[in-house]
Amino acid sequence: MRFMIGIGVIYGVVFIALSTLCGSTHTDPVIRSLKWNDINFLHTTDTHGWYSGHINQNQYNADWGDFVSFVTHQREISRKQGQDFLLIDCGDRHDGNGLSDITTPNGLKSTPIFIKQSYDILTIGNHELYLLENSQMEFEVVAKHFSEEYVCSNVEYKLANGTFVPFGSKYRYFETPVQKKKVLVFGFLFDFKRFNKGTRVTSIEEEMNKSWFKDTLQLFQNKVDLIIIAGHTPVAHEWPEFYALHKRLRQFYPSTIIQYFGGHSHIRDFVVFDSRSTGIQSGRYSETVGWVSINMSHVELPEKERFARKYIDFNKDSFLKHSNKTSKAAFDTPKGREVTKLIKSTREELKLNNLIGTVSMNYYVDYVPVDHPKSIWNLLTNHVLPTLPGSGERLIIINTGSIRYDLYKGPYTVDSQFIVSPFENKWVNLTVPKSVATRVVEKLNDASYISASRLKPPQQYVNNKNMWNFNQASSQQPLLLLEDISSSKSKTRLTKGYITHDDFGSDGDDTLHRGVVNFKIPNVVQSVQFEDESDHNIDLIFYDFITPNVLWALRELKYRVDNKNPDVYSNVYLGALLNDYIKQNLA
Ligand SMILES: *[C@@H]1O[C@H](CO)[C@@H](O)[C@H](O)[C@H]1NC(C)=O
Ligand SMILES: *[C@@H]1O[C@H](CO)[C@@H](O)[C@H](O)[C@H]1NC(C)=O
Ligand SMILES: *[C@@H]1O[C@H](CO)[C@@H](O)[C@H](O)[C@H]1NC(C)=O
Ligand SMILES: *[C@@H]1O[C@H](CO)[C@@H](O)[C@H](O)[C@H]1NC(C)=O
Ligand SMILES: *[C@@H]1O[C@H](CO)[C@@H](O)[C@H](O)[C@H]1NC(C)=O
Ligand SMILES: [Zn+2]
Ligand SMILES: [Zn+2]
Repeated sequence: MRFMIGIGVIYGVVFIALSTLCGSTHTDPVIRSLKWNDINFLHTTDTHGWYSGHINQNQYNADWGDFVSFVTHQREISRKQGQDFLLIDCGDRHDGNGLSDITTPNGLKSTPIFIKQSYDILTIGNHELYLLENSQMEFEVVAKHFSEEYVCSNVEYKLANGTFVPFGSKYRYFETPVQKKKVLVFGFLFDFKRFNKGTRVTSIEEEMNKSWFKDTLQLFQNKVDLIIIAGHTPVAHEWPEFYALHKRLRQFYPSTIIQYFGGHSHIRDFVVFDSRSTGIQSGRYSETVGWVSINMSHVELPEKERFARKYIDFNKDSFLKHSNKTSKAAFDTPKGREVTKLIKSTREELKLNNLIGTVSMNYYVDYVPVDHPKSIWNLLTNHVLPTLPGSGERLIIINTGSIRYDLYKGPYTVDSQFIVSPFENKWVNLTVPKSVATRVVEKLNDASYISASRLKPPQQYVNNKNMWNFNQASSQQPLLLLEDISSSKSKTRLTKGYITHDDFGSDGDDTLHRGVVNFKIPNVVQSVQFEDESDHNIDLIFYDFITPNVLWALRELKYRVDNKNPDVYSNVYLGALLNDYIKQNLA
């Protein structure tokens, strides 16, 4: 096994060197192999409705039908090798894409597509809990369809007669089909507070104190080979919830293998809890399928020999390669083809491909610094926000969580609008002195501001090893990585993508990439629409959503605001401004 991996690495390096020397036009990506073991897992999380694949990004060009075929092959390969295979999803299946969000209720057409996949274990995310109709669908469609595979230990649904019942089961105990390993599964959502009234979330800490949990742990003591935690909870060391859970589990199961599957913060991540326990988090938006394999041997093994992990790019090249298939025709399964067809007809029915305009270059949320020409914040503050109807001297503030995804070169469609800027927030206005208005952003971006993380996109919630902190070093370095390699002499065939640094090192990504870096971005950005510096009253305009934050900042600046409910300034959403701008300027 080790010999094979060695060859793979040498082959990769030699291949890059050769293609560089010869100026080869070969375009096969360099893909690292998976390390199979007693139990193999694939993991998705935070798909947010991205079942059509990424239409303007070749790097993530597989759709849900391709993923269905992929899983069929993984199961088959595992079985042939006398190994087990389990597929896991950790929630957030709504809000992120036209396929899920254009319908009322949201998810009406995308949920039936999602459940075509044959999950062995799945759990709930916070996006299934904002609106009652989403929770209803989760309970009546998803949890019912998967029944005992749906595991949810700390989230409940309120029946018509007022009784709270779990979504699916509170835990699951089963034996794997091939190796007959005894598995105990729990599903845990982070301490989410904004659940709708038809549901109830109990914090992990509180749930662990309940008698059912202790009783369950006691009941299966000495009867478990593997504990699986499927959680819509980040696995990062900075996020304490799984670590508190782990401490409790270890009191009852001091040496059982425990594998965590996490979510919510939208990053690729892999952590070591102890020598018999690791956790993986598999990104977001059908960009990533996470892979974990475990050697179930009772022998004491170093964690790197027991566990292996990969982050598989959600594309056809990766899926074919890991399925040992050389053509798409040999790869596709009848069910996979059927799901692809269903996606296509659904997109047509929902008119998601209707063209609004064409975008000529990529604009990023956080792969470049905010003032970079390719930053979407630069585009918005300098070009799009000035088109907000109204006039006079004004300063417009938006929070960076108000944009959901990068804007990619290519056709900009009804679907793209849901992907990039879907939020229907009204603009409100306060009239304040210019000298005060210009300091609001600085206050809101103060690192000590506690409710800040909710203003940002999820991948910025927790610091991770991949985050470029521009306070620590020159911001030029990752830019070089991102932009300049393709134009330099050392041109390789590598595609742009994640290079993930996790507890096992930097070889987790299945595809060798030219690295993208997540720059730390601020909570809010501003569009300054006045020239002179003289101090007088101007309009301070912002999303009604961040009114409490702006009022807080003004209080901090010792500015007295009498009007706690600022007047509506405009109903023209940011998404509409962006559509118009693209129609007129970016084609
Ligand atoms: C698991 O580890 C044991 C002990 O090192 C080894 O003998 C066995 O071959 C490994 N199993 C697999 C499937 O690699
Ligand atoms: C509410 O309905 C459920 C399902 O029909 C039933 O099991 C439960 O006993 C009912 N609870 C009450 C308080 O009537
Ligand atoms: C859980 O129980 C522990 C120990 O009995 C206690 O210290 C802690 O406050 C409890 N936590 C919650 C949230 O109930
Ligand atoms: C891959 O497929 C080829 C041809 O179908 C077969 O000969 C080979 O054994 C397969 N390799 C693995 C690792 O399954
Ligand atoms: C902004 O709000 C103030 C009141 O706070 C109002 O006097 C002013 O007319 C508003 N400006 C616009 C353009 O609506
Ligand atoms: Zn999410
Ligand atoms: Zn989430």
